[in-house]
Amino acid sequence: MITDISEAARHTIEVSSASGAYPVFVGPALLDRLPAVVSTYAPAKRLAVIADDQVGPVHGALVAEALIDAGHDVTCMTFPEGEASKTRKTWSILTDEMLDAGLGRDCVVVAVGGGVTTDLAGFVAATYMRGVPIVQVPTSTLAMIDASVGGKTGVDVRVGKNLVGAFHAPRAVVADTAVLATLDATNRSEGLVEALKHGAIRDEAHFTAVVKAAHSLAEADADAWAECIAASVRLKADVVAQDEFEGGFRQILNFGHTIGHAIEAAADYRIGHGRAVAYGMIAEARLGERLGVTDSGTADRLTEALAPVTARDALDVDPSRAFGFLDADKKSRGGRARYVVLCRIGEVDGAEGWAREVDDDDVKAALDGVLSGW
Ligand SMILES: NC(=O)c1ccc[n+]([C@@H]2O[C@H](COP(=O)([O-])OP(=O)(O)OC[C@H]3O[C@@H](n4cnc5c(N)ncnc54)[C@H](O)[C@@H]3O)[C@@H](O)[C@H]2O)c1
Ligand SMILES: [Zn+2]
Repeated sequence: MITDISEAARHTIEVSSASGAYPVFVGPALLDRLPAVVSTYAPAKRLAVIADDQVGPVHGALVAEALIDAGHDVTCMTFPEGEASKTRKTWSILTDEMLDAGLGRDCVVVAVGGGVTTDLAGFVAATYMRGVPIVQVPTSTLAMIDASVGGKTGVDVRVGKNLVGAFHAPRAVVADTAVLATLDATNRSEGLVEALKHGAIRDEAHFTAVVKAAHSLAEADADAWAECIAASVRLKADVVAQDEFEGGFRQILNFGHTIGHAIEAAADYRIGHGRAVAYGMIAEARLGERLGVTDSGTADRLTEALAPVTARDALDVDPSRAFGFLDADKKSRGGRARYVVLCRIGEVDGAEGWAREVDDDDVKAALDGVLSGW
């Protein structure tokens, strides 16, 4: 068994956390190093491997086999793929299965999948027996770039997304870019959105690099993705290091997400998270321009950069229904939604805190515009 995964990984990014720093390994062909990662960062005899029913039979089974070969006692659990499974109901089914299997406080959860799995299994690990360690094995671009890093876990409820959850930092994250070969083009492009978001809030050069690489990324070039993922994770890790529990600065990662989450909920989760956030970023940039805070032309740059994700087909979402979901967002305070406003690509305006309230009329105008396809 090769124990030094840092040598095998093309990139290793250290993320600081109150519960201890953890590594994010990025590069092709890392899955077979998972037993070494578990024994180094989350040693346990008994493991619960959680995956959805699409990823489970492919990558989940390989992971479980490698862990069994390494001498672990592995309980495999799957749930139906898709955002509709990110619920308290699935959480209760999974935790009951773990209880039935007799898993104790000394078990470790290994989450193999997209952002739905990393959030859901993360919440299972955060709450099972008051918290057991988790190793995140993201398999979608979005989960590698964003969802598996930073420790936010949770489920959706009737009134909105991610409203029940917990912070639970992983012990390690293993992003094997070779698994992206089985991800379809639509889901692959969802990760592009969060990569562009990281550039839009923190680093114009990263934004430009992702736009330039968009063609290779669409073609599933594993090397191009490894670079894009590592650079994006570095930007996120830097934000999380400054404000892990979102007291203030970490809110900038929510750029595009107040309106994005409302669109996602108003579409009854028929559209992917990345796609909803793409519309959310364009709408929130237009909102910033309308407020006179964001440099004019910023929303146009975002619109152009996000075209591979937004231009596919028309978005059939009722603006007034989406508006109704805004104040339920967890970023709200005193029942009012809050918005992250850019100065320009690469920089957020912090003059009124990292997220601010905005007049309903301005929000409605931005939402109507983006949903009626300017
Ligand atoms: N916790 C966070 O910080 C954070 C950040 C961003 C997004 N999120 C959450 O992430 C979720 C969206 O993530 P997602 O887009 O990855 O959704 P997802 O987990 O539903 O994955 C999308 C689809 O791709 C499939 N899939 C994943 N990897 C695959 C692979 N390698 N091969 C074949 N199929 C594969 C899945 O089965 C699913 O059908 C949302 O719920 C969002 O709220 C969380
Ligand atoms: Zn997101």
